[in-house]
Amino acid sequence: MRVIVEPRRTYRLINHGPTTLISSAAGGKRNVMAASWVVALDFDPPKLAAVIGGDTYTKELVDASREFVVSLPTVAMVDLTYAVGNVSGRKVDKFERFGIRTAPASKVSAPLIEGCVAWLECKATPEPRMEEEYGLYAAEVVAAWADDEVFSDGLWRFPDDTRRTIHHLSKGIFFATGERVEARETPA
Ligand SMILES: Cc1cc2nc3c(=O)[nH]c(=O)nc-3n(C[C@H](O)[C@H](O)[C@H](O)COP(=O)(O)O)c2cc1C
Repeated sequence: MRVIVEPRRTYRLINHGPTTLISSAAGGKRNVMAASWVVALDFDPPKLAAVIGGDTYTKELVDASREFVVSLPTVAMVDLTYAVGNVSGRKVDKFERFGIRTAPASKVSAPLIEGCVAWLECKATPEPRMEEEYGLYAAEVVAAWADDEVFSDGLWRFPDDTRRTIHHLSKGIFFATGERVEARETPA
């Protein structure tokens, strides 16, 4: 079940560096692309930074709406993730072409991607120089959600391997998020 993630725990959804899907919508159009370069910027209110390349259709829609959703795909969605990262929404409707199901977000116009295990609804903060020079968008996370079978009480617990989040190395090679290892406190 999709449940709300408290603002102060939202950074934990992306702190392990998963590959994401960025969805966007503006002027009756919508789109989705793969994005690895997404990182937490602040705890509460939660903020993140995402690199959205200058030649992408996503940038066009984000520039128009100043909103986007970061969804976290799983091992089961690795082909889809790679596909939406290699085709532009300028040429095809990726939702139709790849049979992507969506759900409405609560605070932004971009859709949530079904099948994912976490969703962060974002409103971009104006940083014109960073956006133009690096494609770097700083955003406040105005609502966050997670599948409570996979993320609860601020922790990831993967019930099966197909629902692990993924990490892109290069050219379609991904790693699945691995086992939890806990550091001991350093004695004073
Ligand atoms: C696994 C993966 C990760 C990617 N990460 C990013 C990223 O962080 N930022 C980016 O601008 N493009 C990234 N890309 C490339 C875009 O997803 C790609 O250019 C896409 O076709 C853009 O789609 P659009 O034109 O419909 O927006 C990635 C591609 C793949 C396959």
